Amino acid sequence: MKEIKKILVTGAVGQIGSELTLALRDKYGAEHVIATGRKTEPSKELKESGPFHFIDVNSVDSVEEMIKKYEIDTIIHMAAILSGVGEKNPMLAWDVNMNGTLNILNLGVKYDMARVIIPSSIAVWGPGTPSVAPQDTALHPTTMYGVTKVAGEILADYYVLKYGLDSRGLRYPGIISSETLPGGGTTDYAVAIYYEAVKNKKYTCFVREDTRLPMMYMPDCIKATIDLMEAPFDKLNRHNDYNVGSMSFTAKDLANAIKKHIPDFVDSYEPDFRQAIADSWPDDVEDDAARKDWGWDPSHNIESMTKDMLEKLQARHAKGELE
Ligand code: SER
Repeated sequence: MKEIKKILVTGAVGQIGSELTLALRDKYGAEHVIATGRKTEPSKELKESGPFHFIDVNSVDSVEEMIKKYEIDTIIHMAAILSGVGEKNPMLAWDVNMNGTLNILNLGVKYDMARVIIPSSIAVWGPGTPSVAPQDTALHPTTMYGVTKVAGEILADYYVLKYGLDSRGLRYPGIISSETLPGGGTTDYAVAIYYEAVKNKKYTCFVREDTRLPMMYMPDCIKATIDLMEAPFDKLNRHNDYNVGSMSFTAKDLANAIKKHIPDFVDSYEPDFRQAIADSWPDDVEDDAARKDWGWDPSHNIESMTKDMLEKLQARHAKGELE
């Protein structure tokens, strides 16, 4: 297994990429983690803590330039169009998610990368999947995002088989975090509810109160990603489609958890087009393979996450950062 020395992160300005980049810089050294985004300005912290460049994952040349300039040996490919935005513009989701992924895989082979990490999602599931999704089950997504994630998993597995590329991936649940807002997914309500609770003490949720989905707090998401990336190759019985579970709760459970800290918080529900997407996804996931192969073991539950989220957001609100 080749050593990880220089990491390129695509989508580093996104919800997960922004915090993952900082965690990687702590671990691998600031100059060893190259953050890239397409258009959105990076936060001051992201920009000042190490190298940052604008690139387009759909342009092979712009990615290749980074690989050569920094002698990259590992790519973490976070750039993607999520489910909500993808349903508004399916061709954009196809183009960015499929062609971007293909470019990363081809460059991974061309530059003999130590590792390529391509996250997948609970969006790979749909009708025919049991409410607690087993590791191996029907994959019938009903969104373009899900279609591209299924295809991306299979494509990356093909590169492992055909070219011996060490590509790895995990199926993220909805990710909840306090630093960067998510960019247009179906699980975004589980983040927005905290921001609105802190700012206005009320939130109108775009899914029904009984909507139950698998979720995870950002520190566990970062841990899962780095743990999988660093796991010994010979322990991995699969490559690009590891289920990772953590918590499962309804929108109402989340509102009630917040009310324990903010008793006058008012929740209401007005489902929109994302309800059908949420309804097509399972309630929870089985993650025995990740636990067995690379020791996956999440730390947070809804109570510990809610306490931490509210503390962090209240501190940001007091500094005027949430306006
Ligand atoms: N959070 C994503 C979405 O809602 C799921 O991976 O699109």
